[in-house]
Amino acid sequence: MFFKLFTLFFFLSFFWQCLKSSSQILDFTYNGFHAPLNNISIQGITTVTPNGLLKLTNTTMQRTGHAFYTNPIRFKDSPNGTVLSFSTTFVFAIHSESPILSSSGMAFVVSPSPRLPFGSPVQFLGLFNVTNHGKETNHVFAVELDTIMSIEFNDMNNNHVGIDINSLESVKSSSAGYWDEQDQFKNMTLISRKRMQVWIDYDGRTHRIDVSMAPFNENKPRKPLVSIVRDLSSVLLQDMFVGFSAATGSVLSEHFVLGWSFRVKGEALPLALLELPILPVWDLNSTRAHSFYKNWVPFISLLFIILLIFLVRFIVRRRRKFAEELENWETEFGKNRLRFKDLYYATKGFNDKNLLGSGGFGRVYRGLMPTMNKEIAVKRVSNESRQGLKEFVAEIVSIGQMSHRNIVPLLGYCRRRDELLLVYDYMPNGSLDKYLFNSHEVTLDWKQRFKVIKDVASGLFYLHEEWEQVVIHRDVKASNVLLDADNNGRLGDFGLAQLCNHGSDPQTTHIVGTLGYIAPDHIRTGRATTGTDVFAFGVLLLEIACGKRPIEIENESGERVLLVDFVFGFWMEGNILAAKDPNLGTEYDQREIEMVLKLGLLCSHSDPQARPIMRQVLHYLRGDAILPDFLPSDLRGSEMMFGIHHGFNESDMFTPGSSIACSILSGGR
Ligand SMILES: Nc1ncnc2c1ncn2[C@@H]1O[C@H](COP(=O)(O)OP(=O)(O)O)[C@@H](O)[C@H]1O
Ligand SMILES: *[C@@H]1O[C@H](CO)[C@@H](O)[C@H](O)[C@H]1NC(C)=O
Ligand SMILES: *[C@@H]1O[C@H](CO)[C@@H](O)[C@H](O)[C@H]1NC(C)=O
Ligand SMILES: *[C@@H]1O[C@H](CO)[C@@H](O)[C@H](O)[C@H]1NC(C)=O
Ligand SMILES: *[C@@H]1O[C@H](CO)[C@@H](O)[C@H](O)[C@H]1NC(C)=O
Ligand SMILES: *[C@@H]1O[C@H](CO)[C@@H](O)[C@H](O)[C@H]1NC(C)=O
Ligand SMILES: *[C@@H]1O[C@H](CO)[C@@H](O)[C@H](O)[C@H]1NC(C)=O
Ligand SMILES: [Mg+2]
Repeated sequence: MFFKLFTLFFFLSFFWQCLKSSSQILDFTYNGFHAPLNNISIQGITTVTPNGLLKLTNTTMQRTGHAFYTNPIRFKDSPNGTVLSFSTTFVFAIHSESPILSSSGMAFVVSPSPRLPFGSPVQFLGLFNVTNHGKETNHVFAVELDTIMSIEFNDMNNNHVGIDINSLESVKSSSAGYWDEQDQFKNMTLISRKRMQVWIDYDGRTHRIDVSMAPFNENKPRKPLVSIVRDLSSVLLQDMFVGFSAATGSVLSEHFVLGWSFRVKGEALPLALLELPILPVWDLNSTRAHSFYKNWVPFISLLFIILLIFLVRFIVRRRRKFAEELENWETEFGKNRLRFKDLYYATKGFNDKNLLGSGGFGRVYRGLMPTMNKEIAVKRVSNESRQGLKEFVAEIVSIGQMSHRNIVPLLGYCRRRDELLLVYDYMPNGSLDKYLFNSHEVTLDWKQRFKVIKDVASGLFYLHEEWEQVVIHRDVKASNVLLDADNNGRLGDFGLAQLCNHGSDPQTTHIVGTLGYIAPDHIRTGRATTGTDVFAFGVLLLEIACGKRPIEIENESGERVLLVDFVFGFWMEGNILAAKDPNLGTEYDQREIEMVLKLGLLCSHSDPQARPIMRQVLHYLRGDAILPDFLPSDLRGSEMMFGIHHGFNESDMFTPGSSIACSILSGGR
């Protein structure tokens, strides 16, 4: 009875013991590491791929990766006991950039901790570092699959399997391979990118450690690859963690574990090889593409963004540059308004090569309107005051509707911020001043000059009397007489002086015109009239006949001599013809020259009352009327010649205290 009771107790206690032991982890199997991933922790660059591969390392260089089973494994029944038998098997594969070269390897590891944060990469396989390498306090057991030959660890070659205890200097190692059925050794290459299986067994009784490997789908070889007798009791603690470690170096490589089975006290359960996840094909191109993508795409996109910003800026600037400001009042002139962009392109961006000349009001550029295939002259007038602009534009536009053979046609205008652009027909033969004062170039003969005089006179007459309203030119002078393709004289720039008058303080009057052409009464009253135009026309007549500028500077004394005085002097001597242009040649009509000179003097008479009107001037020029006979004394008699006949000089004109403020533009050439 007692014996029976004793055996029952014995069985019960045995059962209890078994129950207690069974609460400890004895085995686990992973046929692929599928989500949700249970009891596996990963560190470093290790990842688990969506299809269930444990990818210990990716192609990041000089890094480590670890994966551990999270639960501790009881390797000893008591802290001072002997290590129990254990067994593990796993399927792995190593991809390497080069088929003959790799940069590191991987290892199965039994460690006192489920993490190895201090393990160094490359030859240290992520297991140890320089300080703790070889120390017994590590309590690390590992089986390395080493793909580099580290002289410092006495490695046999760059393709070996070794048993490591607290150190990377293997206690035993062998070149990777297996013994087949016929006991023939078959080499294997770890970095072959092929799947391989490894078996590791420790016999707790005999302390024998056996490591075998074989190609995927082959049976476990009967004869192990590496085998050694070594009691692990001093190495392993009671509770340990099992897992894998891998490292990368400077050659791109990837380490995979496809399936893993482990067991304490007994042989690990076989893996279901058919269930294991599929290994991706090593595609360096895509890896490269990936690293290219990673490294360059941010850079390229940044570049792209910068480029985009520049493009936008360019477009915005361009838009602003060519922005058309159209005010309400301008709509009625819509037809006459030209687009700045067109003018910009027509003049090749107001290129200096296209510059025809610059005068008091601005620069004149030559251009070609592609739409009309017409040559144009664009005058850029800067206009600070916007007041009166409307009136001016209205006048310009109305003047633009004039059509007379002796007037330069105005094609349109364009207004932009503080500048006004006036577009005229291009006059291929340029302005008259170039012919008169440039003795080196061809000059016009008297016949041509006389025709130009008549042309200008009829143009001015048209402005004064024939057009629906009286238009005062305000700036008659040689450079505003342009010659068209048939050498017809045409008046240009009419009314422009008006722009400077508009918007100015009514208390002060700006006299705008060109020095030498401004009538004395204009200076006195500050008002431009048809009479002041006639005065300027008179000066122009003298210019054409004498080939001299209205104000010439004598070489010796530097004194300024007025053309009017010059001609007057010859007349007083009774030899007015001596004043004519010496470059005229011989072909000329004496009576015509004499008449022009006298008419010039008469028109530039200082008394506006004494000046003829343009209608009369035309009659004299056409010979319809005879210029009244008058003597020099008739002109001299009227003491209206002012100081200007006796040496012209600005300070004389702008006497202090004078109520007239003069601003004389286009002063000289
Ligand atoms: N329609 C045009 N066709 C050809 N050349 C022109 C035209 N308008 C002006 N020019 C040239 O541009 C030059 C500058 O003109 P402008 O600015 O009016 O100055 P200014 O008349 O005071 O000399 C003129 O001397 C002339 O040679
Ligand atoms: C994970 O560990 C728990 C105990 O902590 C256990 O019940 C479970 O079966 C384990 N899962 C796997 C897949 O091993
Ligand atoms: C490798 O994996 C780590 C961790 O997941 C990641 O940060 C890194 O970008 C990966 N590198 C490459 C080249 O995929
Ligand atoms: C285990 O061994 C240590 C010395 O190595 C000793 O101090 C300790 O008492 C032992 N413990 C048991 C439970 O035997
Ligand atoms: C090496 O690892 C140990 C822990 O095992 C750590 O204390 C030490 O700082 C590490 N040394 C280096 C150089 O990383
Ligand atoms: C296997 O590898 C070893 C060492 O690398 C070499 O000496 C041997 O010739 C190889 N054998 C075969 C069959 O390739
Ligand atoms: C990789 O690219 C090379 C050419 O650069 C090509 O010859 C090769 O076939 C590609 N390999 C793969 C796997 O696409
Ligand atoms: Mg001009």
